[in-house]
Amino acid sequence: MEDIINQASKRRTFAIISHPDAGKTTLTEKLLLYGGAIHLAGSVKARKTAKHATSDWMEIEKQRGISVTSSVLQFDYQGIRVNILDTPGHQDFSEDTYRTLMAADSAVMLIDVAKGVEEQTKKLFRVCKERGIPIFTFVNKLDRFGRSPFDLMEELEKVLGIRAFPMNWPIGIDGNYKGVYNRKLAQIELFDKDGSHGQYALKSTAGSVNDPAFREILGDNVYQALTDDIELLDMAGDQFDFEKVTQGELTPMFFGSAMTNFGVQPFLEEFLRLAPTPTPRQTSEGVAGAESDFFSAFVFKIQANMNPAHRDRIAFIRICSGKFERGMSVLHVQSGKQIKLSQPQQFLAQDRTIVDDAYPGDIIGLFDPGVFGIGDTLCQTGQSLKFQDFPVFPPEQFARVQAKDTMKRKQFLKGMTQLTQEGAVQVFRQPGVIESFVIGVVGSLQFEVLEYRLKQEYGTDILMHQLPYGVARWIASNNVNPQDLKSIDNGMLLEDTKGRPLILITTEWQLGWVRERNPGVEFLATPPDMPHE
Ligand code: G4P
Repeated sequence: MEDIINQASKRRTFAIISHPDAGKTTLTEKLLLYGGAIHLAGSVKARKTAKHATSDWMEIEKQRGISVTSSVLQFDYQGIRVNILDTPGHQDFSEDTYRTLMAADSAVMLIDVAKGVEEQTKKLFRVCKERGIPIFTFVNKLDRFGRSPFDLMEELEKVLGIRAFPMNWPIGIDGNYKGVYNRKLAQIELFDKDGSHGQYALKSTAGSVNDPAFREILGDNVYQALTDDIELLDMAGDQFDFEKVTQGELTPMFFGSAMTNFGVQPFLEEFLRLAPTPTPRQTSEGVAGAESDFFSAFVFKIQANMNPAHRDRIAFIRICSGKFERGMSVLHVQSGKQIKLSQPQQFLAQDRTIVDDAYPGDIIGLFDPGVFGIGDTLCQTGQSLKFQDFPVFPPEQFARVQAKDTMKRKQFLKGMTQLTQEGAVQVFRQPGVIESFVIGVVGSLQFEVLEYRLKQEYGTDILMHQLPYGVARWIASNNVNPQDLKSIDNGMLLEDTKGRPLILITTEWQLGWVRERNPGVEFLATPPDMPHE
């Protein structure tokens, strides 16, 4: 028990959230380098040399040079076991991206200093905030011309509703930065003069930014601007209140440059110091965490065919309590089956390592005999508990699909069933229509992945026809038959796999109109008995 608590206290499990091109791959790679997990810069991503990202497993990913599926990377740094949950960096992210956040205890929000808060970051931020996980901000690309840091702080507050506490502060004028001032250590950290952008640090002998030595190095104007900024921050800015960080109200903000390796190591060290240890999770029988005296874990992602050489499905689980040991038998609560976990795996890139033991906060991959679903619970035999259901994330794009060859219908159905269980797509039926389904996804790349996988894994070609809808709403009403709803002429009435009615309509704007015309009917973004996003 002591051992488990001790091991858990050394774990940090987090996800990096960002908009494509903010530098997530680059930052991840630099973090892995510090952890000694990779030795060659450029091995996580080397698009231009036609090498493939280490998290690119599926053929489709390789062909396109992007990462479709989220992966998990692990390394040790100064006695801390770091688990990075990688979220797809492409515009077409999927529900998988959201679900990955369910396994994280904190998030690093990566922002491009020139671009500020972008669309995908907003969506991912919302999910983190909803879950109440602490968010750390890394403002990247400081080596380039960028926006004013005050401007960025204001944007975080206005757009995301979170206040920021700068841990360091850019030195320079008008977005032309020379390095940072470290507020905690009262030292300036500058890009090296030789242009290598390594780091040159000078600590204040005065213990504050007001140090004549700084003026000498920075020159009058830059020094003046820096001292004015720091004075303003000290006087008008927030205090560092860790309680607020854990409640998702305040974000520690770091400035740096992943590509030039500037500020990455100080960030990593401070982040590991502040980031939460594995957070206990709610179950039907109270919380499960490091202090619980039983093993428990939940499935947050199911991945098929990660390696074309192995035609298998892997379920990724996050351990919440107890010690995991290779070969142990656990109860899969949803099926009531006893399962022996004989080949648990951890992942670094294409390398799979067999794990002998693992602790709360760790992520491991299990061969899925075809019984696991997203959100399922595994626990020690003799226990009976269930983790809370995963939220359903409202799909935004829709298509009608059917098997091209009706003779292949059986494989088609099998494939659709499995892919739905895996959470790759949401499947709906139009009442009275048997030969085709309507599928809903968060990002359109999922359509391509579906088509590709049905062909590769189930030998089925499909006909797919994208539908002009953007909004799905479940219908909750005690007295109105869905068929009798008013003003949904250009919408589509469907049922989900549990027979619950929903409509597809084109825009949120149309939804307002439909609501107005159907008083007494609720239109819900997620199924009535599921937790909301
Ligand atoms: P992503 O995973 O978030 O999509 O971003 P990625 O790391 O692929 O970085 C996107 C681009 O931004 C890359 O340039 C990368 O080199 C660059 N970048 C990342 N960090 C920094 C930084 O700190 N400063 C500057 N100036 N650039 C940075 P690219 O030209 O698209 O690709 P590449 O040729 O560098 O691989």
